[in-house]
Amino acid sequence: MGATTAKVSICLILFAVAFRGFINAKDECLEFEINEATIEDIQKAFTRTKLTSRKLVEFYLNRIELLNPILRAVLEVNPDALDQADKADRERREDRHRSLLHGIPVLLKDSIATFDKLNTTAGSYALLGSKVPRDAHVVSKLRDAGAIILGKTSLSEWYDPYVESKSPCGSSFGSAISVATNMVAVSLGTETDGSIIYAVHVLDVIVGFDPRDYEATKSAAKLIPSGGYKQFLNKQGLKGKKIGVLRNPFLIPYKGSNVTSIFEDHLNLLR
Ligand SMILES: *[C@@H]1O[C@H](CO)[C@@H](O)[C@H](O)[C@H]1NC(C)=O
Ligand SMILES: *[C@@H]1O[C@H](CO)[C@@H](O)[C@H](O)[C@H]1NC(C)=O
Repeated sequence: MGATTAKVSICLILFAVAFRGFINAKDECLEFEINEATIEDIQKAFTRTKLTSRKLVEFYLNRIELLNPILRAVLEVNPDALDQADKADRERREDRHRSLLHGIPVLLKDSIATFDKLNTTAGSYALLGSKVPRDAHVVSKLRDAGAIILGKTSLSEWYDPYVESKSPCGSSFGSAISVATNMVAVSLGTETDGSIIYAVHVLDVIVGFDPRDYEATKSAAKLIPSGGYKQFLNKQGLKGKKIGVLRNPFLIPYKGSNVTSIFEDHLNLLR
């Protein structure tokens, strides 16, 4: 795939740590269950030397090789990912722990620019061969935090992994699928077309003012809570809240199909 200048939208979406019970795999040598592990689980396993970043990257690369021919969520893997993992392992041994994302593999939606061997194409052949001038701001923040850039994920703007005529709804589906199927621990999407959700540790690392995205981030940066976002995590957080549901126009094309009832079921779960 090629490369390009990519606009990183202000609202970043992360998909961290997903749904239970998709193929139960275990790394036999390490006795640590990588599937469905949270960032905190992984960090604990690092500390107890039950896991290394290299093992983790190898695990995810195997998952990608196994599942991606069908799911097509990952466009490219980073040829430098294992080297970055070794570096993170070395730093951890030397007690140079950078952040909760240190040594954690991250996949990036392909509209997010990386100034490395990876192409940035937003999933389009039209941008093949173009070259980005630098890392996107969030990417430099991830690198500073010690995260491993594992590769790039696909976008629904250009294709769907299952059915050509259907979109999985939400342009960051490649990012979502890769996490849901344990091809990576963290994946970055962007809010462009109905993608959702954030994960607090990742948000704490990437949030901030970007002088190159002055207009968009100047006022938003004032709203970043001191002490980070983790303090607001609350299992009962939705209690007493009103949820606005935008059915028109998004659900109209699905009238009569089971998409509507499945949507309502999930909505009721939130309630
Ligand atoms: C980037 O795209 C070129 C051209 O398609 C390809 O040869 C190369 O392997 C790609 N880079 C990576 C890291 O996949
Ligand atoms: C929804 O409908 C599709 C096609 O009609 C079917 O393949 C799928 O299994 C249905 N899903 C559920 C959860 O009922």
